[in-house]
Amino acid sequence: MKRHLLSAADLDLPDALLILDTAAELAAVADRPVKKLPTLRGRTVVNLFFEDSTRTRISFEAAAKRLSADVINFAAKGSSVSKGESLKDTALTLEAMGADAVVIRHSASGAPHRLATSGWIRGSVVNAGDGTHEHPTQALLDAFTMRRHLAGGVGDLAGLDVVIVGDVLHSRVARSNVLLLRTLGAKVTLIAPPTLLPVGVELWPCSVSYDLDSSLPTADVVMMLRVQRERMSAAYFPSAREYSRRYGLDVNRMKLLQPHTIVMHPGPMNRGMEIAAEVADSPRSVIVEQVTNGVSVRMAVLYLLLGGSELSDGSNGVPVSEGRPL
Ligand code: NCD
Repeated sequence: MKRHLLSAADLDLPDALLILDTAAELAAVADRPVKKLPTLRGRTVVNLFFEDSTRTRISFEAAAKRLSADVINFAAKGSSVSKGESLKDTALTLEAMGADAVVIRHSASGAPHRLATSGWIRGSVVNAGDGTHEHPTQALLDAFTMRRHLAGGVGDLAGLDVVIVGDVLHSRVARSNVLLLRTLGAKVTLIAPPTLLPVGVELWPCSVSYDLDSSLPTADVVMMLRVQRERMSAAYFPSAREYSRRYGLDVNRMKLLQPHTIVMHPGPMNRGMEIAAEVADSPRSVIVEQVTNGVSVRMAVLYLLLGGSELSDGSNGVPVSEGRPL
């Protein structure tokens, strides 16, 4: 494993499988009455969120706390200092406080990379979403969820047919998923109106289509993306109704899916726009489970990046798998 997790491309197949396997072991802890492990006792994890977040911030906080780390939540939104200075000054403060890991979400693509390569801090940097660029832990929790449902919870995702639908242009989730799913052997198709595809998408390791209906019957996974209005400065489609008609997943479209196919969404959802409420709440939907799995996956990432700590009994506080510590 590299010292930082900035991009899904930082993970080769052994790294990705190690995180997913570790997350599976750690998920067992969530079923215990006492959900805490002493693994990161004495370590400090800072959640540095320059952009709004519900799921990701709470999930990282829960993950760090379940590993007994000290957690500092820094809601940096609203700072009047210019972005470059703000990031540097904040980083120097975090370093002075002895942060072992900094989990950063920022509206500027590349901000986590800047933090990791600047020399301002010594700890590990985890990208929790940077602009329209990447969100690697979301891709990991998505892969974890697919593996549980469609691959028996083990190994890679070779041959899995995954369609990712919607506002790819503004989606850091889509980019990270394409990269990680390629590493794990899945076949990915992006489906979006031409206006919501990024320039250069033909160079991404996936196929691209404008037709949702023809891709649904063979899909194993349908991942719907939020239409990110807050990042839109122009009109990318004629109307919300027209968008839903062509690219929304409603009950009729859901009938085209195979019995085993799962429906995913990273949240927050625009119910009635990219996904109908009946679909979001249907038995095929694993959307709530994605949130649950996010905690286990982020525990695994923090554990592996920070290396755990030796306990007085010589163990590292992580569950033992088949007689060998992870
Ligand atoms: C995503 C994000 O913030 O990139 N949400 C998330 O992390 N759960 C997707 C989105 O905002 O639509």
